[in-house]
This record gives sequence, structure tokens and C-alpha cells, in this order.
Amino acid sequence: MQPGEIGSWVSTFRSMTDGPFQLNLWVPDPAPARDAKREEEVREFLAQWGPDVPAAAGDAVPPDFEAQCDALIVARPPIVSSVMGLFPRVYVERLRQHGISWFAVVSTLSEALEAEAAGADAIVVQGMEAGGHRAAFNPEKAERELVGLFALLPIVVDAVHVPVIATGGVADARGIVAALALGASAVQIGTGYLRCPEAEIHPAWADAIGQSAPEGTLVSRVFSGRPGRSIATRYVIAATGPDAPPPAPYPVQRGLTAPMRREANRDTSVDRLQAWAGQAGRLSRSDPAGEFTRRLWAEAQAMLAA
Ligand SMILES: Cc1cc2nc3c(=O)[nH]c(=O)nc-3n(C[C@H](O)[C@H](O)[C@H](O)COP(=O)(O)O)c2cc1C
Repeated sequence: MQPGEIGSWVSTFRSMTDGPFQLNLWVPDPAPARDAKREEEVREFLAQWGPDVPAAAGDAVPPDFEAQCDALIVARPPIVSSVMGLFPRVYVERLRQHGISWFAVVSTLSEALEAEAAGADAIVVQGMEAGGHRAAFNPEKAERELVGLFALLPIVVDAVHVPVIATGGVADARGIVAALALGASAVQIGTGYLRCPEAEIHPAWADAIGQSAPEGTLVSRVFSGRPGRSIATRYVIAATGPDAPPPAPYPVQRGLTAPMRREANRDTSVDRLQAWAGQAGRLSRSDPAGEFTRRLWAEAQAMLAA
């Protein structure tokens, strides 16, 4: 979100509920090195999958991070979380002064230790099963350091002194109970909720999640330039194939794929959609999110009591 959009989103949210909420910020990478020849190859490739891509499409820039940080302070959520990096020390201090807790999302043990040393109040441990972008601080390491939640979670729990929240591949009560047994204080579910009506995702994307096998998703950079796990659609398979040009870095690739992604929203098939999905998509449910949540917790409590 642009900084100006954050306050109005929070006002709308507060007009509908007095429940607690969390706002999440991507910590930006340094500006990418541009390579006109490589971008042209990507544009030519993408023209086989959608409309012609103007050269300027790669100029897309992320929102102003400092202005986003300021907007979060004004919005005063109980919790702010970071992903793909850590907040600067001065900002951690400002959060503390305003009584806002900081949850840091990490994907490795060393990132968890860095987050604790930087003052995180809780650590969200993201296993490589997770749908969407990988939380890795350094995109160059994101594909090499693919650590699964079962190994990562107990090792982080042993190494840090703050509460740990487990995420990645959890989508039913069995996963919740397993994460709690491995030392988590809570779980965070993403893909499991995507088929709930409130998520309002494209029907082809929802169907693909419900039918996906765990091996039917792939981590790639082909949508945004940052590694993320999605359904292995026809586009993803072609764009990661030996004949495809390597994707441009984030956010250039995101800009270059925007025309195709816009057009894909009018498709009936999942082929060109940015269909983020984790490995446990088949466990997702299409019930309303509130019902799904209550059922998950009731089932988990029954399993814990047994
Ligand atoms: C469509 C989608 C968008 C996501 N966007 C973000 C995001 O902006 N920030 C973030 O920290 N995590 C994001 N995530 C990751 C989730 O917070 C969570 O870590 C992940 O979905 C857990 O794995 P699961 O999908 O297997 O449940 C996203 C996940 C999905 C599926």
C-alpha cells in the first residue's frame, strides 16, 4: 500500500470491528541494478504470454518505505510485522515508544537470531512450504536456504527467548497441534484461507489451490523477481524452463509482468495468474473465514485434550 492508503484502510477496519490487527511491511532491498538487454529478453518472452510490454514497465518503484513506517505509527496497530528484512534500530525504538509490538518474519535460524538481537517482540518462523514470497532477508539466498518448518521451528524455539509463531504449510488442526508440540506459541495460516469467500481470489486460482498436490507448487522469481511459491502453472513452468530468460530483479520483474497479470485476471484458466499457494493448499477450505477459524481451533483443542 502507498503510505496514504494505510490510514484509510485502518479507519475502515476500525469502523467494522474493535478487534486487534497487525500491519505488515516489506523491508525494501537496495535498488536493483538495471540490465536493458536482459529486460528486453524478458519483455520478448512475456509478449508470448500477454500484451507487448513497454520498456518503461520495468521502472516500477516500491512505495516510500519511510513514509509507510510513519503511516504505521500514526495508525497505531497493536502489532507491526516486518518481512524480507529487519526494521532500522531507530524505527524499532519509535515502535516501542508508541507501545506497538514488532513481529519479525524470518526463514532461517541466523535471521531469527538477528531479529531477536534487533529487538523483535516475537518471531514468525516461515518454513519453505509457505505460499507467497519467501521471507528471506537476502533474495540471493532465498532458494538455496529452503528450510522446512519441521526442522526450523524447534531449532529456533531452542535458540531464542521470545515467542515464536509458526507459518508455512499449516492449514488444519493436525498442523496446528504439531506446531504447538514443536514449541510454537501460535500459528499463522495463509494459503489455508485463500479459498474462503472473504479472500475474493480469482475462481481459477481458488480451484487450483483446492486441487493442488504438495509437489504442484514451485518457488520461482518469475512474477516479481523475488522468490515466491505459487501453483506451477503453464506460465511458471515455461518461465522457469531452460529456454526462458532469467527474470529481472525485484521490483523490475514485477513491473514487466504487470501487463500479463492484469490481462490474466479476465481469463478463465489459472495458466497466467499470479497464483500464490503453499504446499498444503489441498487442506484449505471454502467456508467463511470465521467459521473455518473456529473449527480449526475447536479441533486443535480436542486433539490437544485427547
Ligand atoms: C497470497 C499471499 C500473500 C502473502 N503476502 C504476504 C505479505 O505481504 N507479507 C508477509 O509477511 N507474508 C505474506 N504472505 C505469507 C503469509 O503471511 C504466510 O507466511 C504464508 O502464507 C504461510 O504459509 P501457507 O501459505 O502455507 O499457510 C502471503 C501469502 C500468500 C499466500
